[in-house]
Amino acid sequence: MKVLGIETSCDECCAAVVENGKKILSNVITSQIPFHAPWSGVVPEIASRKHTEWIYAVTNEALEKSKLRVTDIDAVAVTNRPGLFGSLLVGLSFAKAFAWARNIPFIAVDHMLAHLYAPFLEVGSERLEVGIEYPFLGLLVSGGHTIICRADGFDDITVLGTTIDDAVGEAFDKVAKFYNFGYPGGLVIDKMAQNGDNSAFRFPIPSLHKGDHRYDVSYSGLKNAVINQLDIFKVKTDFTKEDIAASFQKTAVDILQRALFNAAEDTGLSVIVAGGGVAANSLLRERLTQQAHLSCVFPPLELCGDNAAMIAGIGYHYLARGEVSALDVTAQSRVIGFKKKYP
Ligand code: KG4
Ligand code: ZN
Repeated sequence: MKVLGIETSCDECCAAVVENGKKILSNVITSQIPFHAPWSGVVPEIASRKHTEWIYAVTNEALEKSKLRVTDIDAVAVTNRPGLFGSLLVGLSFAKAFAWARNIPFIAVDHMLAHLYAPFLEVGSERLEVGIEYPFLGLLVSGGHTIICRADGFDDITVLGTTIDDAVGEAFDKVAKFYNFGYPGGLVIDKMAQNGDNSAFRFPIPSLHKGDHRYDVSYSGLKNAVINQLDIFKVKTDFTKEDIAASFQKTAVDILQRALFNAAEDTGLSVIVAGGGVAANSLLRERLTQQAHLSCVFPPLELCGDNAAMIAGIGYHYLARGEVSALDVTAQSRVIGFKKKYP
């Protein structure tokens, strides 16, 4: 079954074709970075307008690259949650129209669950999922979410821990914005940190390691501590901006790692699957893949951030179960199920 995937939840306009939930036949990711860079962050109105302008051409390109014709597509999968409402609506409306015009099934999916599915895809002849079996520990880290969960199936997760304030990606983005490091923040800080001293600044780690919060994280304190350093940084010359980036990144990864390792220890789950834009972070990848007692699986860099291949991939599994979405399904900017249930 050849599924066309559409993803427009934030500022990437994406379309892909995936066969049987595995083989990527095409994966087009078009970035809006130059349009948002002057504001050092995503401007929702610009994002949805650009999606409207681009979605048709992006889908055409995905079809061309897959060497298929429109009539070869068996079903359409699209992100309808969570994300920027206006942006989601563009992809969703386009996918509905495509499915309706072709009279083929259509499925609306959760893009955070899709991030966790990314390592199950096949890129070229390379099969990424090397024996990943459920259950595993999921680490979902993006601009809007930070979730540690137990995954028992592609659509069956139990949230063990979350951020109690900002998402980790958001902290990267805000720090980069305040220091004028560039946009997008995560990628820029990751690159700068390669040339910095990560022990130059000692930023606080939240005391969230006990009781109900053992698997939770917090990034608002770290973000503010780094931002508050700006005035001192301006007058003190013996540190570089790369030192700030490296010290911040180290602390951000320390926070994530502590909660994740607590969850691994308590659940006995030793396989960790990461997904989301922050899963591209080089320090996080290095740290987690070095753990002898844990097996950590990361998607390749191009499948960490938002992409439509993961949408088509996970969509296939719903469709294979006979599930389809009604054409009146709408977008949801937030997903309630991603909140942790405290006892
Ligand atoms: O999954 P994603 O593409 O979109 C959302 O669903 O939010 O994630 C985007 C986030 C942004 O906050 C971006 O700064 C962050 O992922 N990011 C990174 C890196 N590359 C992207 N954060 C840290 N290190 C990176 N290399
Ligand atoms: Zn995402």
